[in-house]
Amino acid sequence: MTMWGGRFGEEVSDDTWEFTVDTSDRRLLLDDLSGSMAHVEMLGSTGILDPTQVSVIVGGLYTIREEAVGGSFTFRDDDEDVHSAVERRLYELIGESAGRLHTGRSRNDQVATDMRLYLRRAGESRVQDIESLIGTLADIAEREATTPIPSYTHLQQAQSTTLGNHLLAYCWMLLRDRDRFASCVRRLDASPLGAGAGAGSGLPLDRDQVAKSLGFPEVLENTLDAVGSRDYVAEYAFCCAQTMTHLSRLAEEILLWTTTEFGWATPSDAVSTGSSALPQKRNLDIAELVRGRASVVVGDVTAALTLQRGLPLAYNRDLQEDKRIVFHADDTVAGSLRAMGVVLDGLVFHPPGPRAETASLDLAEALVARGVPFREAHEAVGRLVRRLEEEGRSFSEVGPADLAAVDERFADADLELLHGPMGSSRDRVAGTSAARSQLEKIRAELSERDQPLR
Ligand code: ARG
Repeated sequence: MTMWGGRFGEEVSDDTWEFTVDTSDRRLLLDDLSGSMAHVEMLGSTGILDPTQVSVIVGGLYTIREEAVGGSFTFRDDDEDVHSAVERRLYELIGESAGRLHTGRSRNDQVATDMRLYLRRAGESRVQDIESLIGTLADIAEREATTPIPSYTHLQQAQSTTLGNHLLAYCWMLLRDRDRFASCVRRLDASPLGAGAGAGSGLPLDRDQVAKSLGFPEVLENTLDAVGSRDYVAEYAFCCAQTMTHLSRLAEEILLWTTTEFGWATPSDAVSTGSSALPQKRNLDIAELVRGRASVVVGDVTAALTLQRGLPLAYNRDLQEDKRIVFHADDTVAGSLRAMGVVLDGLVFHPPGPRAETASLDLAEALVARGVPFREAHEAVGRLVRRLEEEGRSFSEVGPADLAAVDERFADADLELLHGPMGSSRDRVAGTSAARSQLEKIRAELSERDQPLR
């Protein structure tokens, strides 16, 4: 049954129907019911509908809600979208009174309302999912706060640092992702209802009351903006894509770390997958899929933006596609956040530690501390590196004569920088103490947000 048969002499063709029907919006059912309840109650309190009509409609909506929650609500092939399905069921339950629900409303402001309600809740869940992954990373970082590893530039060993510090970098990225979701939710938290098809209604609707009962702190002032804008969809998709990008970098690193060549970590059996052909294989498909799915979510942002570009005001059916896009982005990030938590939980770390050469800058800075210009100190260590390379020796084998040969301003004590796993660079690395102070700050940020967003 369509909501718009009156002006046509003939039925819409099956092909048209099949092409235009949307089923991806079915997950909006509960939000659609909340919007309808708030709307019809407002129609009652403003006197647009009489109290008996309102209570009959509200009763019917409650029954539908029970069916939806209990899983007995069924969609039919001839429901054009979620809004039509609710109205069709309402007719089945309460008869002709159902025809009053859509008073002063259009599916255009209705669907924008449903989406804002849905994304508000989804965004709040993503904030929690991200916080929980940060918690997992922070716990591992604490355990590994003093585990020496090389840091990299250009994927070549650069300076020593700690595994704790390395993992904390991801905590900070994810904290910003969390804040982005929270601020996106704050921006989309406004009510479109009352905008109708686009230019409002002549009926004395109370838009503030509807907004208030749906927990929206404000009403969207401009009705064309209310039904025609989807910047919140693109912004939400971006929040998902940026988070996926961070997860993808972490996934890529975990994939490197778990190779035979790196040998930094071993994944648990629970998250490993095997090969149908190669009996020895232990693959980490979760990390590869997170990396792969990040690309698709990046595409969702492009889709959400190009959906809006060139679109005349206000509502156009193009906008129906926003759901598929943002649901895909959100489902993917939700699943990936959880899966990465499980992967991290099961990782056993055993990094071999940095090469002594990663102390090169520390050695140069020992000269700088004695007043040598940095460029000269850099040259001196460069000469040492060349000499060792030519002789096929390593930094860990350097003796006092080697230092004196490249620059007489080196002191014997400088050798300590090159010996032992990290030498005295231990004081420099944003390692032990710095990792601990970062951990404190990160945990404080997590508990600060413990209060609800709204
Ligand atoms: N299913 C539609 C959507 O998601 C609802 C709005 C339909 N409005 C219309 N004028 N046909 O956008």
